[in-house]
Amino acid sequence: MYLSTGRKAPSRKGSMHDVPKDLMKQIKELEQQFTIDTAKLHEIVAKFQFELEKGLSKEGGSIPMNPTWVIGYPSGEETGTFLALDLGGTNLRVCEVELPEEKGQYDIYQSKYRLPEELKTGTGEQLFDYIAECVKQFLIANHEGQDISELSDLHLGFTFSYPCHQDAIDHGVLQRWTKGFDIEGVEGHDVVPMFEEALERKGVPIKITALVNDTTGTLIASAYTDPTTKIGCIFGTGCNAAYMEEVGCVPKLDHMNLDPNLQIAINCEWGAFDNERVVLPRTAYDNHIDKTSPRPGQQIFEKMVAGLYLGEIFRLVLVDLHANPEVSIFEGQDISALREEYSLDASFLADIESDPWENLMETQVLFEKTLKIDTTEPERKLIRRLAELIGTRAARLSACGVAAICKMKGFTSCHVGADGSVFNKYPNFQKRGAQALREIFGWDKSVRKDPIQIVPAEDGSGVGAALIAALTMKRINAGIHAGVNVKRKNSLIPPA
Ligand code: BGC
Repeated sequence: MYLSTGRKAPSRKGSMHDVPKDLMKQIKELEQQFTIDTAKLHEIVAKFQFELEKGLSKEGGSIPMNPTWVIGYPSGEETGTFLALDLGGTNLRVCEVELPEEKGQYDIYQSKYRLPEELKTGTGEQLFDYIAECVKQFLIANHEGQDISELSDLHLGFTFSYPCHQDAIDHGVLQRWTKGFDIEGVEGHDVVPMFEEALERKGVPIKITALVNDTTGTLIASAYTDPTTKIGCIFGTGCNAAYMEEVGCVPKLDHMNLDPNLQIAINCEWGAFDNERVVLPRTAYDNHIDKTSPRPGQQIFEKMVAGLYLGEIFRLVLVDLHANPEVSIFEGQDISALREEYSLDASFLADIESDPWENLMETQVLFEKTLKIDTTEPERKLIRRLAELIGTRAARLSACGVAAICKMKGFTSCHVGADGSVFNKYPNFQKRGAQALREIFGWDKSVRKDPIQIVPAEDGSGVGAALIAALTMKRINAGIHAGVNVKRKNSLIPPA
């Protein structure tokens, strides 16, 4: 027993010699279904690149490639105090960000509020009223002694991380909910006035300066402190990326007659990659997740790689194996807890993958506690291998998206700023992604440092959103009004 010795847990490679034939056969089959070899990586990257380019074309494709009206990188010299608001999957975060005179620096004060589960399937008005109330509470707490009505000069960057069609930075029509949200009356509408009306109802006079996607925020915040950053990514509950594009390379913006050299951030919304289902090696479990989701046929790539789905894929495989008469797994056990949909999240897989013990005793405890299932050691070996397969597939597919943007833009060396629970907390996700990039770009051992590296990002939805609000105000104050909504009731552009 390792536990009683107090010495460091060994790294667990584990042998499969004691795994019975029926389980071994299933492991081999799962390996076949979930493994993405180098040849398949190449095939996926080529198709991904093609689809990214199609998304920029006039006809468009299934990857939205939404222009964000974030124009150019920060210089590092942005200054002022801004509010940032982040509507994440589980929390709502309100921040006040100070950008001081010193280049590339910031100070941030923030509060988190839990997002009640029932709001994710309620009405738009309920959602925005709740958000507005949180902003109000934050301002009351952080501006003691001041009347809220005196704060009308505060500008807010609103991180709203769902696909939005933006024809201005302070405008965004929600194309569809993702990440399991299903709130009526918002899809197809501009979310900015909805939120502004809620703020008015609560008597909060601040201005919404920019609607920001988390990936764009990540790109801008990371580029602020590390100018080699060329892409911002989120690998969390959902997945996506943003990068800076020249207007001249975006045919669908031709009609606007903008300077072709202007740099504009593109929110790819790459979760929609392969919605046509032609290249990704999908399993019956991926199909089931899609069919039973609130938006079948959409976010096909996201449903294979994002944190929201990893636990569910894992759960479906185990339920399926238990029902298979050729396999003996969890014999005579009550698996009713395992039957509950979406009962396991990605952290469950992360915990299994982190189990350092040869006999996987932490996995045993995890199954007992969470699912009331007593596992045998061979069963745990299958469980561990399954978690590895699902986690590895997610990391390798994620790397395909990064590689596709790099190839399309001709980036041969850069940093990719990444954030999100899967990137930050899932064991080996970063290492597995880096390995896939090596295979895709053919960097062998003679390349001492990977030229393209996915690195932890700066705080995109706090600092990034504040910077984007600052950049927008700088443009407006300089009289450059491209990409700012003039028609809006509370337009940021003062009347002539
Ligand atoms: C959303 C994106 C977002 C990503 C990461 C996806 O579900 O559609 O807008 O960037 O999740 O949060």
